[in-house]
This record gives sequence, C-alpha cells and structure tokens, in this order.
Amino acid sequence: MKSSSSYVSPNGPFCQSKLTFLSVLTACLLATNVTVWGQHETTVPQNAYGRNKISLNGNWQYFVDRYEAFFYDFVRVPFDSSAIGKRDFAALDGRAKDKTDRYEYSFDGAKELKVPGDWNSQVQELLHYEGSIWYRKLFDHSDLPIENKLLLYFGAVNYRADVYVNGKKAGIHTGGFTPFAFDISELVKSGQNSLVVRVDNKRAKEAVPTDVTDWWNYGGITREVSLIKLPNVYVQDYQIQLNPENLKELLGYVELSTEYTGPVTIKSEELGLWITLDFNNQQKVSLKKRINKPFVLWSPEHPKRYDFELSVSEDRITDKIGLRTIRAEGNQLLLNEKPIFLRGICAHEENPLKGRRNTSKDDALQLFKWVKDLNANYMRLAHYPHNEHMPRLADSLGILLWEEIPVYWTIDWTNKETYHNAEKQLSDMISRDHNRSSVIIWSLANETPNTEDRLVFLKKLAKKARSLDQSRLLSAALFKQNLGDGVYTISDPFAEYTDVVSFNQYLGWYESTPEVLDNAYFKFDKAKPVIVSEFGAGAKQGFRGDSLTRWSEDYQNDLYKRTLKFLDRIPNLVGFSPWILADFRSPRRQLPIIQEGWNRKGIVGQNGTYKQAFYTLQEYYNEKNKKR
Ligand code: GCU
Repeated sequence: MKSSSSYVSPNGPFCQSKLTFLSVLTACLLATNVTVWGQHETTVPQNAYGRNKISLNGNWQYFVDRYEAFFYDFVRVPFDSSAIGKRDFAALDGRAKDKTDRYEYSFDGAKELKVPGDWNSQVQELLHYEGSIWYRKLFDHSDLPIENKLLLYFGAVNYRADVYVNGKKAGIHTGGFTPFAFDISELVKSGQNSLVVRVDNKRAKEAVPTDVTDWWNYGGITREVSLIKLPNVYVQDYQIQLNPENLKELLGYVELSTEYTGPVTIKSEELGLWITLDFNNQQKVSLKKRINKPFVLWSPEHPKRYDFELSVSEDRITDKIGLRTIRAEGNQLLLNEKPIFLRGICAHEENPLKGRRNTSKDDALQLFKWVKDLNANYMRLAHYPHNEHMPRLADSLGILLWEEIPVYWTIDWTNKETYHNAEKQLSDMISRDHNRSSVIIWSLANETPNTEDRLVFLKKLAKKARSLDQSRLLSAALFKQNLGDGVYTISDPFAEYTDVVSFNQYLGWYESTPEVLDNAYFKFDKAKPVIVSEFGAGAKQGFRGDSLTRWSEDYQNDLYKRTLKFLDRIPNLVGFSPWILADFRSPRRQLPIIQEGWNRKGIVGQNGTYKQAFYTLQEYYNEKNKKR
C-alpha cells in the first residue's frame, strides 16, 4: 500500500483518461475560485505585538523548489487539491510511513535560514532568487484548555505564503508587508508539531506591487512568527484616541472576539481613567469619556504615551498610546490644533550596512538614529507598510509617519483580485497601526499613471480608508504637471480625494540639471496643504567633483541647496521628504562602479557615512526648527 506521501510519477498506475479527467475537474474547480483546501485567514488581534506570544523565530530548515515540483503535480494542479496521490506535507519530515517510500524532498538534513529574514541576503546563491522556497519549523505543544484558541501569527511574508500544520493546510496569504494569522486550534496536537510554509516571491503583473519596482524583491518569512494563545472571549480590536472636536475627551471603541454580555474595562492610572463598558450580547461598543486630569498631548517635542489596560473575562491586554489630534485646515497642517511643518525624509525598510530587509528593533533604531541626527521630525515609510517596530519606536521617539501600501506605478487597475489585494493590504495596515500616534498620513499610491481605471481604483481605496479611520489624513505621491515657463502644478484628479496634496519631483536630476531649480515655481490654487514627497539625486558616497559632475556628492549637494530654495517658494508647503535616507538595493540600478545594484540617492551611504547633502539638509532643518 503506497503511503499517502508518495509522489505518483507521470507514468504511474493511473490510467491516462481517468487521470486527465480528474485533473481537469480539479483545475476547473480551482479556476472557479472554489476554495478546495485549507482554512482562510483569521482576524489578527489588535496589538498582537504586545500580546504574550510563543516565538517560533530562529533557524528553520528549508529547500529551494525552483520548478514547484513539490507544490504542483505533473499536470500543474496543486497537490493541495490534486486528484493524484494526496501529498501529506508532514511527510516532508522524512517520516514516511513506509520506508520503501520514494520521495525526493525532505527537511531532514536540510540547510537552515534565519526567521525572520529574507533569503536573498542570507545565502549568496539566493541573492537574485525569485520563486518558491519551502520552510519547516518543528515545535512542541502541550494541550490547550479546550475553550482556548491557538493562533499562528506572521508579521509578514513576501509575497505569498501557503501554510501547513502537521500536513494539513492552514491557509494562504498574499501580500508581502502586512501581518496575518490562522486559527490552528484544530490542527495542532500535543507533542511535536510540523509547521511547513511555502513562500513564493515571484513578481506578477496582477500582484500588489506589480512586477516592476525600484526596490529589491526580498523573499522569505521576513518578520516574526509566533503562537498566540487566546481565551474564547478576548479583545479582538480597539481604537483609543482624542476627540478632534474636544481635546479633553477620549473617543474609540472595543470589539470582542464574540458577542458577549458583561463588563469590559479600560484603565489608565496616570490619566485617572477607569472606564467600564457594559456589553449586552454585543460584540462592539463605542466609548466616549472626558479626561478630568491634566495630561500631555503627544507631539515630536513631547512624545508622551499613556499606559492603557483593557480587560474582559480572562483576557487582558496593555498598550502605550499617545494622545494627539491631526487635521488639515485650509492650507495648514494642524497637530493638536497648532500648525506643524514636516521636516522629513523617505526610507525603505532596509539597513544598507547589512544589505537586507530590516527585521529587528535594532535595525529600526539604526534608521531613527540617522533621522534624529538630521533634526527631522517626520518619515515617509516607502513604499509599503514597514515592520511594526517602526511605528512603535516612532511613537516613543516623536517621529511623525506617512505609511503607504505598494500601489506603485503600473498596477493592474482593472483586475478585481488586484483591487481586493490592495484593499486587504490597506485594511491590514490601518488595523495594525490605528492606535499609533506617530502615524498621521495613510498613502494610497505612488507615481501612478493618470488614467480613468486608476482613478476608479484609487477612489474606491480612499472610500475604504475613510470608512476604517476618520482620524488620519489621506494622501498619495502624485506626478506634478508642467505649465511651462518653469511653473508647475498638480492637476491630477485624484488630488481632490486626498487631504494633503503630495507630489514627487526630480528637477535637476531626471529633468535637466540643478540650475533649472533657480527659476522653478509651483502654484496650487486649492486651499489644501502640500507636501513634496520626493526629490533627490544619485551620489556615490566618497566620489567628489564639482557641482556638475553627475554621481558626485557635490552634484547631489548642489541639487539639495537649490531645491530647498525652490521649496521655500511654495506657498502652502507643510513639509517634504527627500528621496532618500540611505542607499538601497535595486535591480534597476546597474551602472558599473557607481550603482552595481544599488540606488545611490541616499544621503547616507551604503557604509553608513553621511554624504555632503546630509549636512545641508541637517542645517536647513536646524534653522527650520529654531523658527518654530
Ligand atoms: C521614484 C519612486 C522611487 C524611486 C525613485 C528613484 O520617484 O517613487 O521608488 O526609487 O523615484 O528614481 O530613485
């Protein structure tokens, strides 16, 4: 009797006609999107970051599956649903029931990758690899009290994850930069368990981002993996913030995992708050409560956070939350009802010193060290949601944030699945960070072509974002339009749907040379705040020349000086974020000697050295800060 794990070779015992019929049938089922396998994702509990978790980080076995021979049968039907020789992914452990089993994959004896971490920077041969890699982690588990739930939580996996627990499909997630979870209560057993994850980072036209980006396609389990034990009734979600109409009042809600009758309490000793919400067979109850004690409003100068504890039945969760308001009023940006100027910088989620995806708190602290040295008070986290260390550290350090989803360049605008994916990534980003005082702007797109299909797509996203969070501002990095004679404006129709009008401009780099900035003007007659979300120039760190020597630090520095004067002439400018804090890997940057796979627009070099432009910007922000 062949064990279920055996692979049926192409000329196996099945008669061709039956085999073909079964495969066609299965393929049809798949094509109609009938979910023929696994469970769907479960909702990620709010503040998973702060919950007691069992970490599964560390060394995982792996093997490369370039031809997907372990995922598809020989007629390209996924083994999950194949009619040919059900594959028991637990058998990958080399624990085939029958030793005569012929199988050609096993984790036993396999090499190891660190999780969290991209595979590109861990194994030289995988630097450019785009495809599938299978991971396995064995973990021990003791029985849960029956009424408890066990969630398997991923901070992010780029780009698609197929997850199996003890050979059974837990589910699938697509989207490389947001958290997801599966309820594996029914899949785990006491003793040793096998967690197998297939990660596929292949780019695709219909993906989000699409198949062309100006950043490295780091693949892998790039953020933490952990188990979260939860009682049957737990705090699923909450939002706590200041009432923009009354800065002495808290607004928000608490949502539980199920309908519940009984008290839910929200405590903050320092604020002298003890709020009891009486749930009456309800799952979600809103809150509104005046704060009688004096308290400190959160701001870059005073990043004060207050401890909150939420509890229901046996569940208890704590969080640190800064209290502030943000809104656009005319062409001003008001933080706590006072005008603020965003002294910013853009950043990818990458530590150039290590040439890899950031994974740790230390990686995040490295970026913030450079940002603080710059006298900046704001970061644009480009072009996708960064790891959760970033907004949490930004809360504690007083750095305002622009967060965005990778709706970048030429997305497949008319593809319904593409829209669903973009909306899911938006919802997951907002859900994860809607209690972070540092986050003030949600951005929906970057440099997307001005077409009707794209406008329809982005308007839907904007409507979704506003339905999820009315307390933050919406923006998108748009293209500017040239009116001639050195005058530029924004006439992109999507600007109407944003609260802050933002645009990228590369005068002096992609357009002419820096002196063109001296006679450049921007005019915008709508009463909306304006942010310049990108400008910059490439410079190889340490390469010196005169101000017209392209790729020298001097050219980059001269462009920064002239651009800063151009920005000073923009009437309703409320901030800007030069591109970019540090050099970063990009497959699109292959100039020998200068780039060699790196985008050199950083003002911090690949080796962490500050370029001339860093000091120019630092001085400008110093002066700006004094005039506050
Ligand atoms: C674009 C884009 C960035 C890119 C940059 C550049 O504006 O938004 O992702 O890296 O320009 O050309 O360096």
